[in-house]
Amino acid sequence: MNSFLNYNCSCCNNNLVLINNFGKMPLANAFIDKKLFHKEHFFDLKTAFCEKCKLFQLVDQPKKELMFNDQYPFYSSLSEGMKLHFTNLYKNIFKNHLSQFDDPLSLEIGCNDGIFLENFKINNLRHIGIEPSSNVANIAKNKSINVLNKFFNNELTNYIIKNYGEAHLIYAANVICHIKDINSLFSSVEKLLHKKGKFIFEDPYLGDVIKNNQFDQIYDEHVYLFSIISIENICKRYNLEIVDCEKLLTHGGSMRYHIARTGEYLVSEKVSKIKDEEIQLGLDKKDIYLKFDENCKKFKNNFVNLLRDLSDKNQSVVGYAATSKSTTILNYCNISSEYLNCIFDSTEDKQGKFSPGMHIPIRSDADFTKIKSNYCILFAYNHKKEILEKEHKYSINGSKWIELFPLPKIIND
Ligand code: SAM
Ligand code: TMP
Repeated sequence: MNSFLNYNCSCCNNNLVLINNFGKMPLANAFIDKKLFHKEHFFDLKTAFCEKCKLFQLVDQPKKELMFNDQYPFYSSLSEGMKLHFTNLYKNIFKNHLSQFDDPLSLEIGCNDGIFLENFKINNLRHIGIEPSSNVANIAKNKSINVLNKFFNNELTNYIIKNYGEAHLIYAANVICHIKDINSLFSSVEKLLHKKGKFIFEDPYLGDVIKNNQFDQIYDEHVYLFSIISIENICKRYNLEIVDCEKLLTHGGSMRYHIARTGEYLVSEKVSKIKDEEIQLGLDKKDIYLKFDENCKKFKNNFVNLLRDLSDKNQSVVGYAATSKSTTILNYCNISSEYLNCIFDSTEDKQGKFSPGMHIPIRSDADFTKIKSNYCILFAYNHKKEILEKEHKYSINGSKWIELFPLPKIIND
């Protein structure tokens, strides 16, 4: 049974309906040294749905400084696939939008190591990157990208307007869903945006999460999972509208929203088409989310049974890619190193540490084929092609991959 919560929607202040309770959860990216286990931070990972503005959200989010600081271990440029994604996007945005302006200003919220903005730097276009995590911001600065090492907020918006003027493009990838004060964010965007400017952002898409049971997209950083319906409701409040949208395959299924001041651009038919699909799926009603919670419980049951079965048969199991998403799966399903020997990952900052909460050892991906294992769980299903190509020898030797969604299954069986 669903219950109403004493919590109100972060967007419209309406009473929320509780959907999932994943229990105590550490920060998804807080890979940890053994000596710090006793200091680990946990919070209650619960989700809720707002029946008024249709926003799917976390009930509670840890303080932003705990998540984004000088040790943020996500480096965008580690993926060759994502580098290509951002270069192609740059070319597209330049041709279809920025080229109409003299000396346009582009701003990126959450520019990380500069994976997108380096295209602007190379082409001598005015740009500003906003990045609060100093370790990744410094990498972008070293590429001579203009970076402000700060959180995007109203005060910073006033500073930018005063020193640089209005923005012709405000872009953000995988970050708007991190920012709890969504009203302040949209109000700042509205203030900063040039009359003919565009606010383009992409984030993991709620429709894909629900359809494919990808509950691992739910963790501390993802305070929201958006849909066209919920973004449209927020936009209306700020005299903005969605003028186009694109379904993307990145991060396991994302949506790119193109937003402008109301009436400034023609609205693509795609917007109402995808909105209709969302209504068909039921994203505007609580029932689909309650069904989703049942599916999460089914996943947990199947996953635990599969790993128990393999352990009973003395089969060794490892993981590939210590993603932030894997933290939710491992902690919700209570998978310790009894069932999962280690996780291989290419991020140097994670290697030699332990996974948040369940404390699975993280090893360098360079060791993956040196250490014999029978099964490997592919946590980064969003990089499946890149990883399976790189590690093609794994299955040649008779070992097998385990895919996670919609329900865990052994592939090439
Ligand atoms: N945009 C990159 C990409 O798509 O690969 C990085 C995405 S990463 C998941 C999110 C980034 O947003 C982090 O580098 C984080 O430090 C930054 N971030 C988080 N909250 C922010 C805020 N309020 N303002 C600006 N950046 C923020
Ligand atoms: P993401 O799912 O949030 O993009 O995180 C990807 C994680 O996967 C990150 O920790 C780096 C890791 N990774 C590898 O270990 N090998 C690879 O080939 C790729 C593409 C990613």
